[in-house]
Amino acid sequence: MSATLIRGTEIRDEILKEIKAEVDRIKEEHGVVPGLVTILVGEDPASVSYVTAKIRTAQGLGYKEVQDNRSEDIAEEELLSLIEKYNRDESIHGILVQLPLPKHVDEKRVLNAVDPDKDVDGFHPVNVGRLMIGGSEVKFPPCTPAGIQELIVRSGVETEGAEVVVVGRSNIVGKPIANMLLQKAPGANATVTVAHTRTRDLAYHCKRADILIVAAGVPGLVKPEWLKPGACVIDVGVNRVGEKISEKTGKKVAILKGDVDFDKAKEIAGYITPVPGGVGPMTITMLMRNTLNSLKFHLGIA
Ligand code: GUN
Repeated sequence: MSATLIRGTEIRDEILKEIKAEVDRIKEEHGVVPGLVTILVGEDPASVSYVTAKIRTAQGLGYKEVQDNRSEDIAEEELLSLIEKYNRDESIHGILVQLPLPKHVDEKRVLNAVDPDKDVDGFHPVNVGRLMIGGSEVKFPPCTPAGIQELIVRSGVETEGAEVVVVGRSNIVGKPIANMLLQKAPGANATVTVAHTRTRDLAYHCKRADILIVAAGVPGLVKPEWLKPGACVIDVGVNRVGEKISEKTGKKVAILKGDVDFDKAKEIAGYITPVPGGVGPMTITMLMRNTLNSLKFHLGIA
């Protein structure tokens, strides 16, 4: 059997079209657009490339987009007052502080300084709590897990009563996606197991999964023979395993590999996400949706 490919790029385009239509309508009816500030500290190449992609997407949707790039040696207090400035700025509905931050800055203190009602990354403890409670409490689901849920639902994969196994327990992916899929809600209602580095028998758990979500950051961790035939496999791994020259641009680009051996897994799985082009494109899309929703909360039309 050859699995149905879950094409993140196509689902991204579909959702961005929906967002753009809503942005245009709100602009016409209320005379405002979503405002997003991206704060980038330093020049880490991966961060620069993520932030550039976020800015381009926001601009393409007609958002007000503010780029605030700061030097690597910024003082923590200066960064905190910058965040305070955007917390007060009424034209800004979403504040994104690109991670990682330099070592001399206390990341927790910075993230906690963002107004929870502008925290479109969903990293503030208030939003983590809202997510845990679920339902109408949720304002900003974190972007990668929200993207994973969209991929599953829009591919027509049934979550209700499904055995979901999540490999990885990070605050950004593993813990929130597990929490989201166990909620009493459409696109959730699953039985969720979270496996991690101390799990005794990873193969045993993977073999039980109707939906397997792998976010471990270990290339090829999940073996094809661990998959239940017909399972839905969501590979969140983005592992840089080398470099190559792009045929399209002639420039050097990273060779990316997932946490699952795609070529073999696609012969066993029912649905599978490729790397790249699966989960990756969804993260920025969900950031855009959170920023739009923030404006809607602000206008009282959510
Ligand atoms: N660095 C890598 N991924 C992310 C993300 O989703 N949000 C932020 N703020 N920083 C990141």
